[in-house]
Amino acid sequence: MNILLFGKGGQVGWELQRSLAVLGNVTALDFDSQEHCGDFSNPAGLADTVRALRPDVIVNAAAHTAVDKAESEPELARTLNATAPGVLAQEAARLGAWLVHYSTDYVFDGSGSRPWVETDAPAPLSVYGRTKWEGEQRIQQSGAQHLILRTSWVYAARGGNFAKTMLRLAQERERLTVIDDQWGAPTGADLLADVTAHAIRQLQQRPQDAGLYHLAAAGETNWHLYAKYVLAQAAQAQEAIKIKATEVVPVPTSAFPTPARRPHNSRLNTRKLQATFGLTLPPWQQGVARMLTEIL
Ligand SMILES: NC(=O)c1ccc[n+]([C@@H]2O[C@H](COP(=O)([O-])OP(=O)(O)OC[C@H]3O[C@@H](n4cnc5c(N)ncnc54)[C@H](OP(=O)(O)O)[C@@H]3O)[C@@H](O)[C@H]2O)c1
Repeated sequence: MNILLFGKGGQVGWELQRSLAVLGNVTALDFDSQEHCGDFSNPAGLADTVRALRPDVIVNAAAHTAVDKAESEPELARTLNATAPGVLAQEAARLGAWLVHYSTDYVFDGSGSRPWVETDAPAPLSVYGRTKWEGEQRIQQSGAQHLILRTSWVYAARGGNFAKTMLRLAQERERLTVIDDQWGAPTGADLLADVTAHAIRQLQQRPQDAGLYHLAAAGETNWHLYAKYVLAQAAQAQEAIKIKATEVVPVPTSAFPTPARRPHNSRLNTRKLQATFGLTLPPWQQGVARMLTEIL
């Protein structure tokens, strides 16, 4: 199997380089790759890449993920999150290739407390959410065989993440304030990559399982409880780390005004994915604990 991976340097892209390797020959590109264009601000260049490499499967882990910045550069966000994935889908359709793509809980407005199912109507609150939803629609309308995985609160051991920020702040300050009214499940890039590889393999035998799925770790939390979990684990794991913070205070989202509005309810119902692909998604704490062991 020939696999073409875009966004190889991102959290998910990095883990995909590992998990896809067992499926076949992987060509992994980034926005500044030299031999073939991997730059999502150049959709025509992406089409040339697909035509030249003729992959069996395209996996797109590239995106404009800077949620607040997207509010002030909506055109760029739209090109990266909607136009370019749409072009990849057209090229996949032309070639008879599969397209695997990631989307987000931010397509929803965050109302209520019930975990969102795939058939719920999106109503994004931000440029990022709107452009990611448009990307989904362009892929669905392209006629390409596709897998769209909507996920939430992605972290990885590599690069910056919420847990690392909390650990740093807890060593600098005595009091932390963390939002407690946004609910979701932190999901490891490694879990996303492993599930992706499993799904690609199954889709070769069962193309009828194509479509849109919610994929997140099991359970739920909010950023405040997540921070407390991280600090408790750190205290247990590593005595050398000097946690100064004695208080982690819950505050509402309104205490931290940001350019982009974020959903309060980011819970995703993952039953469809687990049933279709015969998988069990582990509790979010498992992946976070593992990531902390790696970084501490
Ligand atoms: N992160 C989350 O919490 C989250 C939540 C839900 C869904 N998702 C979705 O999951 C997928 C993977 O996200 P992630 O967390 O791995 O994000 P990430 O770490 O920000 O990775 C995105 C990658 O896209 C690259 N990129 C930016 N501009 C590009 C361009 N013009 N051309 C090509 N590549 C470009 C980035 O490069 P630079 O780093 O150099 O800019 C980065 O390597 C995305 O579809 C995202 O929307 C993420």
